Amino acid sequence: MSALPKADPRKLLALVGANWTTQAVGAAVQLGVVDRLAERPRNVAGLAKLTKCEPDALARLLRSLVSIDIVAEDEGLYALTPTGSLLREDAPGSIRWWALWCCGTQWTLWGDLAESVRTGRSFRERHGGMPGYAHLERDAVAADVFNRAMAGLTQRVGREAARVMIWRGVKRVVDVGGGHGELLVELLKAKPALEGVVFDLPHAAKGAVARLKVERLSDRGRFVSGSFFEALPEGADAYLLKSILHNWDDGKSLAILKQVRAAMAPGSRVVLVERVLPERPRGGLRDNAIVRSDLNMLVSLGGRERTRKEFAAMLAKAGFGAPTVKATATDYSVIEAGAAEPALAQRHRAGPRHASATQR
Ligand SMILES: C[S@@+](CC[C@H](N)C(=O)[O-])C[C@H]1O[C@@H](n2cnc3c(N)ncnc32)[C@H](O)[C@@H]1O
Repeated sequence: MSALPKADPRKLLALVGANWTTQAVGAAVQLGVVDRLAERPRNVAGLAKLTKCEPDALARLLRSLVSIDIVAEDEGLYALTPTGSLLREDAPGSIRWWALWCCGTQWTLWGDLAESVRTGRSFRERHGGMPGYAHLERDAVAADVFNRAMAGLTQRVGREAARVMIWRGVKRVVDVGGGHGELLVELLKAKPALEGVVFDLPHAAKGAVARLKVERLSDRGRFVSGSFFEALPEGADAYLLKSILHNWDDGKSLAILKQVRAAMAPGSRVVLVERVLPERPRGGLRDNAIVRSDLNMLVSLGGRERTRKEFAAMLAKAGFGAPTVKATATDYSVIEAGAAEPALAQRHRAGPRHASATQR
């Protein structure tokens, strides 16, 4: 029998046991530990009283959070580290709601990954759940956590998208599947003459309207509800799709792009804001985040991350020209393409379009 190459079992054990960090961070948010430490540094006894936790158990959670750089300890006082501070509600680009989403709704789904790999089908598909995002229409709490989670993740990306996008001739945009409108908010802030629509399912309406109001952008931004599989608001100069195509398989993604193509005015463009899957992921924070997201899409929605070539091929099939792809300072790239043929013929083929409800 040939000798096996030497390996450090601790490396594998750390990977196998990696679930603990999702739950330890999630618990710190769920229990209010993050909120209390955001106020000021505290000792275990004081924190236990405020969070109604058993002191010894809380001390153990805190010790674990120290070891992963979420919390720091100094002479018995615990405080959030810079990384832990990203879990604060008021942190720009807060990861708080994403932490809750990952340790909550997503948790059960990941427990069934092997079956998704065996069948190529998402958890919900296999368990008779509602397809796509329809479940959020029935579960207001989950919808709120998800929409806030996306808004937190999108804030920085939105700022970067505004920086690298081609703005020539762009006066009106549609944020397709825009959720609570974080991408549009960042674009409206960056471009004072810009007007835009957040287009999404009804579950996102209240949050998007409130978000635009808080930012005093309701005069230039509004919410329109509808399905991007049916029709989109027509005639905008740019149709933005951030983290949309990765939710769907190729057939559904193509259908969405065809709706964009049909709604476009002559000269307008589609702007995809997505993580581009490297042909050969090499590890590291960025590549690992993309391959993780790819599996997350498989198990939860039946979607996938795509390479640059795959995006270009899909855009071509939907009637777009060759895209320009720009990296940003985040993991996301901005992929822009104009029509490959006159929009009129396409619109003619798509048949009559119907209007949707607008909310300000
Ligand atoms: C991953 S989230 C992205 C949200 C936002 N673009 C962002 O990146 O922050 C996907 C969004 O697509 C929306 N969506 C799903 N199916 C839709 C449909 N048929 N029509 C319109 N929006 C839809 C969801 O409600 C959700 O807000």
